[in-house]
Amino acid sequence: MVATYARPPPVFVQGEGSWLWDIENRKYLDFTAGIAVTSLGHSDPEFADIIAAQAKTLIHASNLYYNPWTGALSKLLVEKTLESGCMHEASKTFICNSGTEANEAAIKFARKVGKIVDPSGDKVDIVSFNQAFHGRTMGALSATHNPKYQKPFAPMVPGFKQGTFNDVAGINDLVNEKTCGVIVEPIQGEGGIYAGSEEFMVALAKRCREVGAVLIYDEIQSGLSRTGQLWAHGSLPKEAHPDILTTAKALGNGFPIAAVLVTEAVAEKIKLGDHGTTFGGNPLACRLAHYVVSKLSSPDLQESVLAKSRVFTDRFAKLQAKFPDLITESRGRGLILGLQLTEDPTPIVTAARERGLLVITAGTNTLRFLPSLVMTEEEITHGLDILEEAIVATRS
Ligand SMILES: Cc1ncc(COP(=O)(O)O)c(C=O)c1O
Repeated sequence: MVATYARPPPVFVQGEGSWLWDIENRKYLDFTAGIAVTSLGHSDPEFADIIAAQAKTLIHASNLYYNPWTGALSKLLVEKTLESGCMHEASKTFICNSGTEANEAAIKFARKVGKIVDPSGDKVDIVSFNQAFHGRTMGALSATHNPKYQKPFAPMVPGFKQGTFNDVAGINDLVNEKTCGVIVEPIQGEGGIYAGSEEFMVALAKRCREVGAVLIYDEIQSGLSRTGQLWAHGSLPKEAHPDILTTAKALGNGFPIAAVLVTEAVAEKIKLGDHGTTFGGNPLACRLAHYVVSKLSSPDLQESVLAKSRVFTDRFAKLQAKFPDLITESRGRGLILGLQLTEDPTPIVTAARERGLLVITAGTNTLRFLPSLVMTEEEITHGLDILEEAIVATRS
């Protein structure tokens, strides 16, 4: 294996609900959900049955032909999005395989729209923001203005500009007639769980409309009910809804799939042969995602996410009072949460893992919490007890 990840010792062999077991049969509570992926938990029985049934029926026949599931998933994604009061002009989808690929498609669609809006060929700039993470392929990477990710692979794709997240005053200069697209996470995940302010998101959307730029919301980490709403931007007024939305991660609960939702105004500018994928939209992935979206769009589940979030945030307040030198702030919404530390969280992550809790980091010294959405309040309390023990152990 190419050494692209620094992995800790446990070898995971089994999962059930919000728990993982390693090869030595040690049990871990999973506050990571595979980085916001297994929102329905590990080994969901119905999900497993669908894999088996569809594998025996049809896995792949290619995008050269129709199958029943790509269309069904697209329809469901659009319907649930509209029903939930999000992206009010959502109309069509493009289905692919991973988050970075969804953003790649979104960036290409924005460039294509720019060519049509301004046939001079000057409308090609893509704007994104500091602390953002949009993926590792060259287009998405060019929108991820972080030297840690970009420097080894320079030069980046031309035409990518960086702005300051939540800087309302900077928007007018940043986004101009040369901008064809703006890509932004409503809640930055990898960057450290920072939410876009309503003022910023509304001003950004308004400026996009003024200059004819496509507004892309990357909801790959924040979407699919993780905030307690189907999409994180659901809390924003209609005028701040996007023209394109990208989703992946939880969409397949671990089976690779991603989707790009677009408005009719975008869809009508994408012509035959403009974009494509071999695996994307295969009937197995789409049938699984259809099941996942049906489950994750449940209002009862969304309500439970908010209740579970309060279990986290109430305890975070107590931890902050107890360890004021270590914990300075808690951020996020629903079950995408961050605890800002004054030091490197790695010793706490290690001590937690040794005590049976998996937790990850983000940004600079941020502990990140992305549990499954089906984790019980008792499990959350248990995990937070372990976290506190780990903090105490690293203090002494
Ligand atoms: C907001 C966001 N966008 C894009 C990506 C890239 O997704 P993938 O790893 O599936 O390519 C991620 C992954 O962490 C992400 O959090």
